[in-house]
Amino acid sequence: MSVILHETSTPQYWDALYEAGRYVHGISAFECQMFRSYVDPRPDSLALDAGCARGDFAAYLGAWGLDVLGLDFSATAIAQARRDFKDQDHLVFDVHDFVTAPIPSGIRPGTFDLVVCRLSLPYLDPQRFLVDARRWLKPTGVLHITTHITERMPPGLRHRGLPKAAVEELATEWEHAVRYDLDGDGALTCVVLRGPYPHPRR
Ligand SMILES: C[S@@+](CC[C@H](N)C(=O)[O-])C[C@H]1O[C@@H](n2cnc3c(N)ncnc32)[C@H](O)[C@@H]1O
Repeated sequence: MSVILHETSTPQYWDALYEAGRYVHGISAFECQMFRSYVDPRPDSLALDAGCARGDFAAYLGAWGLDVLGLDFSATAIAQARRDFKDQDHLVFDVHDFVTAPIPSGIRPGTFDLVVCRLSLPYLDPQRFLVDARRWLKPTGVLHITTHITERMPPGLRHRGLPKAAVEELATEWEHAVRYDLDGDGALTCVVLRGPYPHPRR
């Protein structure tokens, strides 16, 4: 199997984008509304935002009353998130590489009520991330993934999405899976995965 490495797999690529203020994928009121109706995030619950960038989605979660840990391998993004949300005690941001680094010691199995991964999964190791996320969730926890669909992306940008078949595959091994689209043609889609499932021993 051949592996195509993109420049997006380095933190330096993202640091440069964030330094230049060039990466923004705005969060619409519609996206928030759909997220809240499908996930029903509860105040005082604990969330992990994987690939949180500058913390914009984490900030929405915080505004809805959740405590959020946002992790991203771009030190620039994390510095900006800490700066922009420094007054929000329930948001914590840290640098972490989900592909190459071991699981941070502070993340114990069964820690989170919610794990969100917005537009970041294609850049991670999806198989490892799904196993890790499942381990980090409480038995009643929810994993919410937002992703572009590769086949709907223009040539040259396909690495920013997941193949349709891979998105369908996400649902396997989870007891409950629901999918909804954020646009009319299914190019931007969300998958909501829930247990219950036993905690893996570790
Ligand atoms: C397309 S951006 C999405 C950012 C944010 N979630 C959003 O919705 O705007 C992808 C993010 O994943 C981060 N990322 C890519 N590979 C990563 C890795 N191996 N570990 C942690 N973060 C990573 C990048 O730094 C970038 O901030």
